[in-house]
Amino acid sequence: MTEITMSAELSSTCPQYGDLVQLVSPTNKRHIFRLTPGAQLQTHRGVIQHDDLTSCAWGSEVLSHQGSSYFLLQPALIDLLLETKRSTQIMYPKDIGYILIKLNVAPGQHILEAGTGSGAFTTALAWSVGAQGRITSYEVRAEMQNLARKNLARVELEDRVTFKIKDIATGFDETHADAVFLDLPNPHDYLRQTRAALKPGGYFGCILPTTNQVTILLDGLYKESYAFVEVCEIMLRFYKPVSERLRPTDRMVAHTGYLIFARPVNLLHPPGAPSDSTPPVEAEERDEGSPG
Ligand SMILES: C[S@@+](CC[C@H](N)C(=O)[O-])C[C@H]1O[C@@H](n2cnc3c(N)ncnc32)[C@H](O)[C@@H]1O
Repeated sequence: MTEITMSAELSSTCPQYGDLVQLVSPTNKRHIFRLTPGAQLQTHRGVIQHDDLTSCAWGSEVLSHQGSSYFLLQPALIDLLLETKRSTQIMYPKDIGYILIKLNVAPGQHILEAGTGSGAFTTALAWSVGAQGRITSYEVRAEMQNLARKNLARVELEDRVTFKIKDIATGFDETHADAVFLDLPNPHDYLRQTRAALKPGGYFGCILPTTNQVTILLDGLYKESYAFVEVCEIMLRFYKPVSERLRPTDRMVAHTGYLIFARPVNLLHPPGAPSDSTPPVEAEERDEGSPG
C-alpha cells in the first residue's frame, strides 16, 4: 500500500519517460526535450543523464556533471513559443494571449489560419485546441511552411495541424470553422473567403502592423457585413524585479501590431441593399475600456 502511494506521488511530482521537460539555467538558457531512457543532454555547461531526472521533483535544481546548475520545469506554452526558429516576423506572446481569448479558442475546436509563417501562432493554436482539436494552416511559400512544420515537430504538436500550400485568394477548403485568423498584409482581400469558411457567428481576427492597413480592413469588414468590430493594441511593460528599486526595464517592445476582431453576421439589411439605413454594428465601449 505504501509503495503504491509512493509511486503515485512520484509520478505526479517527478517527470516520467515520454514527458516533455525543460532545463533552465539561472541565466535563462533553456533546453526542451523528451525524457528518453538512456539518453543524455549535452550542454556547453556539462552533461545531464535523462535517467537521473526521473527521480527529481518538478522545480528541482539539478547539476550537470560539471556542477552547473539547472532547474527542472514543465514547459509552458510561452516556453515553446520562445523556441520558435523564425524567418518571418512572428507573433508575440503578449498578442497571442489576448487573441486566443478573443477568438474563443478551446479544446476540440477547428481553427483556420493564414499565413503559417514560422508557425509561432500555429504552435499556440495547436496547444490550445488539445489532442481532439484541429488546426488548418495555409501558406503560399513552401519553404516557410517547412520551417513551421519543423518548429511544430520539435515541440511535438505537429499531429494537430494540417499544413496546406495554397493562396487563400482561391478560398479555404473547409467550412464551419470555429475561428479564422489572418496574419498577412492584405486581409481585406480575403473577407469573403473567410466568411465562407466560418461557422455562422464564428470568430474572425487578424494582426496588422500599420494603421493604413487597419483603415482599409475596416471598410472591407463593414461592406461584408461583419459585426462587433474591435481594434486594439496590447502594450506590455516589464519591471526589474528588485524590491529596493522597483522600476521599469530600460527597453520595451514599443509596437508589434494592431489586433482586429469581428464576427460575420447576417444583417436584416445588408450594406448596399436598397432599404439600408442602419450603420454597421460596432462594439460599444465598455466602462473598463474593453469593447466587444
Ligand atoms: C508574418 S508571416 C506569419 C507569421 C506567423 N503568424 C507566425 O506567428 O509565425 C505572413 C505569412 O503569410 C504568408 N502569406 C501571404 N499572403 C498569403 C496568402 N494569400 N495565402 C497564404 N499565405 C499567405 C506569407 O508567405 C508569410 O509567410
